[in-house]
Amino acid sequence: MSLEQQYRQRFAGSAVLAERAYQRFPGGATHDGRYADPFPLFMERANGPYKWDVDDNRMIDYWCGHGALLLGHGHPAIVAAITQQAPVATHLGASHRLELEWADLIVELIPAAERVRFTASGSEATTLALRIARAATGKNTLIRFAGHFHGWHDALAPGADPDDPNRGVLPSTLDSLIILPTDLDQVAATLATRNDIAAVILEPTGASYGSIPLPADFLVGLRELTHRYGVIMIADEVVTGFRVTPGGACARAGVLPDLVCLAKIVAGGLPGGALAGRAELLDLLAHDECGPRGRIRQQGTFNANPLSAAAGIAMLRAVATGEPGAVAARRGTMLVQMLNELFRSYCLQGWTAFGDGSIFHLFVDPTTDLVPGEIPRNLPLATLKRGGDPRLLRLLRMALHLNGVDLMRGRSGFVSAVHSEEDIHATIAAMAAAIELVMREI
Ligand SMILES: Cc1ncc(COP(=O)(O)O)c(C=O)c1O
Repeated sequence: MSLEQQYRQRFAGSAVLAERAYQRFPGGATHDGRYADPFPLFMERANGPYKWDVDDNRMIDYWCGHGALLLGHGHPAIVAAITQQAPVATHLGASHRLELEWADLIVELIPAAERVRFTASGSEATTLALRIARAATGKNTLIRFAGHFHGWHDALAPGADPDDPNRGVLPSTLDSLIILPTDLDQVAATLATRNDIAAVILEPTGASYGSIPLPADFLVGLRELTHRYGVIMIADEVVTGFRVTPGGACARAGVLPDLVCLAKIVAGGLPGGALAGRAELLDLLAHDECGPRGRIRQQGTFNANPLSAAAGIAMLRAVATGEPGAVAARRGTMLVQMLNELFRSYCLQGWTAFGDGSIFHLFVDPTTDLVPGEIPRNLPLATLKRGGDPRLLRLLRMALHLNGVDLMRGRSGFVSAVHSEEDIHATIAAMAAAIELVMREI
């Protein structure tokens, strides 16, 4: 039986639901990243590091809520916070105590956070950052880096995916963007020759949560350049915030950006986001800071929603101890090391695992001469973003599912603080079985 036939047989319940999904959802999925060929798995429930599909197959989960669930699924502190808050109020349409406590924790943890404005998502946080940067500087152009992802909205979607033809995006929006490689010389040359740049935005560990890591000292160099030319530095810490260290990736590098975009972990696994940063910039939103040019508007029905606030507080209290991030990072490092040992033992050329603590990536393309453990560089951006050979990755994804492991988009993942050493060993055993299946197929 082919791998795909085995997949269709084992995940028969998902196949049935996928048929219905194709009638309801464009492409059969509710998020581009959740699309899968021949069909995605439909999940039913989750606990700790595991989730179960509609056929009751257990998966070790490395999506972990797209990176939001640092404490795994159903952590008692988060569940208690939500269940206590739900009967009290799910929406007050008003200021409330929890939003204050939530913001206090953000300010305590993120060094650049002097003020906070809550949003409903990471995309909203990056949108607001841009508006503030443009208003504060009176300039319109933005530098963003090729491959870095900052949400799906018009202003920043172009440039995230080199294969994206940007259909539906206004030409004037495209004109307001300068898309650069992560090369400080090119940033310097651009800043030296243009006086219309409002801000530079980046993912502070590199494109797609570090799947294309930044060159050494890039963050420090970028901060120096942006200071020199009076340009606002926006760190998109939607993934890295509270994860790579409690203070995020910029804190780890000793860099103080002007604005920091937050989401995912900040809301404890519920919807939510925040923009934090220099008071002087965030205060452009304040009602008493109009000045001659007027204030900036920002609304949002679900800003600082009490349920998200309760979950976010429980999460950030745990983050503040330093413990969950450290445990998750140890397990992530162990996973990457063991994956590379496994690839070596199978003499797999062009297969490599790499990462940053609790974040890991696979790159699989036997036509390259990459050795296990090597970070792929000097390949086309589209190949790097895709994680290698799409045909092989498709087979690997099915084979891993058949062996009880769900990687994010089939080629990366977030390790939580509740993934145990046994889970890591089980993942390695699953990967070995998956490699055998894939090898039989090609
Ligand atoms: C770095 C980064 N920025 C922004 C976003 C957008 O966040 P959201 O999906 O909450 O809109 C994401 C989402 O994955 C992200 O990874």
